[in-house]
Amino acid sequence: VLTHGGEPDLAGRHVVVSAGGTREHLDPVRFLGNRSSGRQGYALARAAAARGARVTLVAANVTLDDPAGVDVVRVTSAAELGEAMVAAAGAADAVVMAAAVADFRPAAYADQKIKKSADDAEAPVVRLERTGDVLAHLAAHRPHGGQVVVGFAAETGDDSGDVLEHGRAKLAAKGCDLLVVNEVGADRGFESAQNEAVILATDGTAVPVPHGPKSALAHVVWDLVGARLPSP
Ligand code: CTP
Ligand code: CA
Repeated sequence: VLTHGGEPDLAGRHVVVSAGGTREHLDPVRFLGNRSSGRQGYALARAAAARGARVTLVAANVTLDDPAGVDVVRVTSAAELGEAMVAAAGAADAVVMAAAVADFRPAAYADQKIKKSADDAEAPVVRLERTGDVLAHLAAHRPHGGQVVVGFAAETGDDSGDVLEHGRAKLAAKGCDLLVVNEVGADRGFESAQNEAVILATDGTAVPVPHGPKSALAHVVWDLVGARLPSP
């Protein structure tokens, strides 16, 4: 995407993207994790770099090849991802939280591998505690008023509301400017190369993005971010 001057539209901008899924360790060999592959975050990083941005990609447990021309910071846990995002967001024009961040972590970490007890009937109980909300923190502590903050949400409809109602409530609760809402179901979202979404904005607009490659969704996200960036 070129501006009227012929420059790519994100030239001179610094954007930060998180990707993948965090892991919360129980002991040296076990963790609580999730199914996020990192593909959507990587597509966002690649698209921003193609549009001229300087890109910092905070990657949690992703096995994909690093995108060319992108600074990759590797993290494991939600706490590490939060620290890396806060550090990188300080000088950024836009921040996109595409990572699947654990909501809970084990309250205690065992330094040694947890062993089965001799009593076959006995099973340990894992107590969990909440992690911090990285997106809400970033949105509430912006380094400057012009920073655009974007979240992702995988939702299912339920008795208390449909997917978009849940999305609207989440957009407001997080305090971000845009929320990319995916309806999760059988072959959508996780691990697939395709995605379908509605992008909700604080101005009340909802932009549907038809089923298609994650790169196409990435470009729509940058179109909407670009439209909200203050002129350089
Ligand atoms: N997120 C975050 N920190 C967390 C949890 C989520 O930054 N501890 C971010 C995700 O990266 C995503 C957005 O918040 O951009 C929405 O994540 P989601 O899991 O849909 O929202 P939650 O607030 O965790 O609510 P839920 O109970 O529905 O999981
Ligand atoms: Ca969550």
